[in-house]
Amino acid sequence: MTQRVLLIISGGIAAYKSLELVRQLRKRGIAVRAVLTQSAKQFVTPLSLGVLTEDHVYDDLFDLKAEREIGHIQLSRQADLVVVAPATANILAKMANGIADDLATTLLLATDTPVLAVPAMNVRMWHHKATQRNLERLHADGVHIMEPDSGAMACGEFGRGRLPEPEAIAAEVQRLLALPQRADPLAGQPDFARDDLPLTGRHILITAGPTHEPIDPVRYIANRSSGKQGFAIAAAAVRAGARVTLVAGPVHLPTPPGVDRVDVETAREMLAAVAEALPADAAIMVAAVADWRAADAAEQKLKKDGSGQPAPLALIENPDILATLGRHPQRPTLLVGFAAETQNIAEHARAKLAKKGADWIVANDVSGDVMGGDANAVQIVTAAGIDSWPVMPKAQVADKLIEKVAHALTSRPD
Ligand code: C5P
Repeated sequence: MTQRVLLIISGGIAAYKSLELVRQLRKRGIAVRAVLTQSAKQFVTPLSLGVLTEDHVYDDLFDLKAEREIGHIQLSRQADLVVVAPATANILAKMANGIADDLATTLLLATDTPVLAVPAMNVRMWHHKATQRNLERLHADGVHIMEPDSGAMACGEFGRGRLPEPEAIAAEVQRLLALPQRADPLAGQPDFARDDLPLTGRHILITAGPTHEPIDPVRYIANRSSGKQGFAIAAAAVRAGARVTLVAGPVHLPTPPGVDRVDVETAREMLAAVAEALPADAAIMVAAVADWRAADAAEQKLKKDGSGQPAPLALIENPDILATLGRHPQRPTLLVGFAAETQNIAEHARAKLAKKGADWIVANDVSGDVMGGDANAVQIVTAAGIDSWPVMPKAQVADKLIEKVAHALTSRPD
C-alpha cells in the first residue's frame, strides 16, 4: 500500500527546498500531502506544491470550524508520518508547548501519527537555550528530530542550523516509514478516551459502486449503482477515526478526504483488491457486484453478421466477494453485506445472512429511486432481529451505520 506523508512547511528561507523534498519523496513512491503555514507562503506557493504533490495544498485560510475541516484534522492521523520541514524555531516552540493557533499546529496537536521535525534556523537561534529546551522536550515526547547541517547560512553567518539536503531528509523519512507500525495510542486507556473517536486504530474495508464486466472491448454488463452510499460510509468511518480502504468500482465520485481508495472494474479485480486489503476489523460490502460476467469476453468488437441472429452471449457466475470473506481465514470481526431488494425485503435479507456468512445485512428497498438518489430507507437484519430505519439521507444512514459498527466492535472481544 502507498505510504503517505503529511508535509508541514513552516516559514523559513529553507522552505524553498521543500519542493525538492516533495520530488524526492514522490520518486520513492511516497504520497505527499502538504500543509503551509501563513509565513511559509512567503517562500513557496501553494500552486507549485500542488503541482508536485498532485494534491490539494492546505493552508491557514481554511476555516477549521467548518464541518468539512474535521476531515482535515483526520488527515494528519491518517498519514503514516508527519514531517515538519523546515521546522522553524517558532513552530518547534509551539509544538513543544502544545500551542495550536493555526492549521499546521492544530494538525500537529491532533495527530497520533509519528512526527519527524527537521529544524532549520539561524545558528544563534539554534543554540539559544529556549530552542534547545524545546528540542529536549520534543525528543522526550517521542518526536523524531533531524540534526541540522553546519555551513554558511543565508543570513551570512556560519554554523549549525542549515536544513539537511532533501535527499537526506527523504532517506530519513523512508527509514522511519520502514519501522514497525505504531501501536494503538489509545490502547489501555479508559473508554472515554475512545468515545469521541470510536474507531481510532481500527481498519474498515468498504466496497462501493457497480462492477463492469466486459463483453467485448467496448461493451460491458453493469448496473445503476452510483456508489454514493458506500462513499458516504467511507467518509463516516474516517470521521469516526478509522483507517479506511475503499475498493470502488467505476463511479464518478471524489474520494472522501483521508480514505485510501483502490479503483477496480470487474468483480474479480474487486475480490483481489479486497483480499489484498485484509486484515480489517470490519468489512462493509456495499458494492453492487455483477452476479454474472461474459463467459468469454471477445477480444475484438462483436459485429452483426447479417443473419438477423443476435451474437450469442454466454454468462458465468462471478465470485461472491461477501461470501468469500465470510469463510476467509482472515474474516473481519464484523462482516456487513447490503441487499438491494424490490420485494420481501427482510425475508430475503435473513436468508442472505446465512448464505453469505455475514453478521449483518443492510437491506434496502430499491424499488424507488434509491440507486443514484440521495436518500435511502434501510433495515438492518442481524441474528438478533431487525432494526428498521426511516427514510433519511445516505450521509445520515452512513453515520448511523458507522455508529452501530463502532458499538459492535468496542463491545466485542477482539
Ligand atoms: O446476492 P446479492 O447480490 O443480493 O448480495 C448482495 C451483497 O453481496 C452485497 O453486500 C454485495 O456487495 C455482495 N456481493 C458480493 N459479491 C457478489 C455479489 C454480491 O460481494 N458477487
